[in-house]
Amino acid sequence: MSNKQDTSKLWGGRFSEATDSFVQRFTASVTFDQRMAGEDIAGSRAHADMLCAVGVLSAQELAEIQGGLSQVEQEISDGTFQWSIELEDVHMNIEARLTELIGVSGKKLHTGRSRNDQVATDIRLYLRGAIDSIASELTRLQKGTIGLAAENTDTIMPGFTHLQTAQPVSFGHHLLAWNEMLERDHGRLLDCRRRMNQSPLGAAALAGTTYPIDRAQTAAALGFDKPTENSLDSVSDRDFAIEFCSFASLLMTHLSRMSEELVLWTSAQFNFIELPDRFCTGSSIMPQKKNPDVPELVRGKVGRVNGHLICLLTLMKSQPLAYNKDNQEDKEPLFDTIDTVLDCLRAFGDMIPAIRPRKEAMREAARSGFSTATDLADYLVGLGLPFRDAHEVVGKAVAHGVDVGLDLADMELATLQGFCPDIGEDVFDVLTLEGSIAARDHLGGTAPAQVSAAAQRALALLDLR
Ligand code: ARG
Repeated sequence: MSNKQDTSKLWGGRFSEATDSFVQRFTASVTFDQRMAGEDIAGSRAHADMLCAVGVLSAQELAEIQGGLSQVEQEISDGTFQWSIELEDVHMNIEARLTELIGVSGKKLHTGRSRNDQVATDIRLYLRGAIDSIASELTRLQKGTIGLAAENTDTIMPGFTHLQTAQPVSFGHHLLAWNEMLERDHGRLLDCRRRMNQSPLGAAALAGTTYPIDRAQTAAALGFDKPTENSLDSVSDRDFAIEFCSFASLLMTHLSRMSEELVLWTSAQFNFIELPDRFCTGSSIMPQKKNPDVPELVRGKVGRVNGHLICLLTLMKSQPLAYNKDNQEDKEPLFDTIDTVLDCLRAFGDMIPAIRPRKEAMREAARSGFSTATDLADYLVGLGLPFRDAHEVVGKAVAHGVDVGLDLADMELATLQGFCPDIGEDVFDVLTLEGSIAARDHLGGTAPAQVSAAAQRALALLDLR
């Protein structure tokens, strides 16, 4: 370790020895925060414009800074920019290069600003962009799901409780249940964006700055709704990242539920759907295998997303005001959450509309599992039996069916009358699968007309956004 003053650092003034090389690597963030370079430059442009407008920078200095920033931007996009660990993070790498390019004006850019409000601004801008991409992928997935539902309002499958056949529903109804989960996730995502979209720029290190800054100007230039209220809070809290990760955990939870059903449905035992080959892989030893890798992997990726949420909650817990270096640890979990969610949505957005239902297998499963037993009970209630007695009668008929291997709809009228003499020929109308779903004809029910109307409403809701 050298004893001379560390002159390579932008903050080297009060130091008398160079940073230990391990500490340099340990404290640096440039390997992962360089992905915010575009946001950092946008923030610097807005800050410089504002400094000129309030008379802190001359028009000449501003022109040099803007020109230099454009050159830095070009170098980064060309891949010729030299990122350096010695310069710690994206902010100081860009500022140092700017000064190298334009000289003394570059050193004036940081007037009235700190890396604390700079990073708080960059990460909000970055996350806002990510939220917009995620919202559009989510919309695409929802439209695909609703579209498939609209084509399957009368495709009958068993509905399950406890994963046991319960009552017939349409495949379209089941898909719209998925869309409801996604729709709430969508709402949470937009809520998060709304609360997050305020500009911390001007908070400086923690207390504000002595220059006559115009925070409303930089906020507007960067597309924020308004400046944040409190400088201490602005540079310290990462609750917006936690909120985003909570959204992500719930979304991934929902995608994992969908995944689980897709995995079950593609199995030979269910055989309800076919996934096109492009979403599956084979086995290197078992030639017959076609594995649903995409939904399995999405189901598995919930683990890391949930882990990142816990990571950020723990990172923030007990942090005293205002900025602490701990906060540098917000980026990797946040970025990985963004990448994971985007990939999973992309995979699902492509895959869901490509699902091919095996309608006969679904129908057969619904037909053979006593799924219309509740309908028979309701029919008996129509004849005047109290529901509990009707339940008992149907229970006995089902037990008989299990013994003799017959479903309710396949029994002779005389057999059914043995359980309740008042049963008439019209009972077979309610024992059919079509009759069963058509009878649930109210808001939120599985009747084809209701499912079709629900699909229309769901699409209209998306178009309103
Ligand atoms: N790289 C830092 C981070 O990500 C930037 C802010 C550093 N501020 C400071 N005072 N050390 O949080």
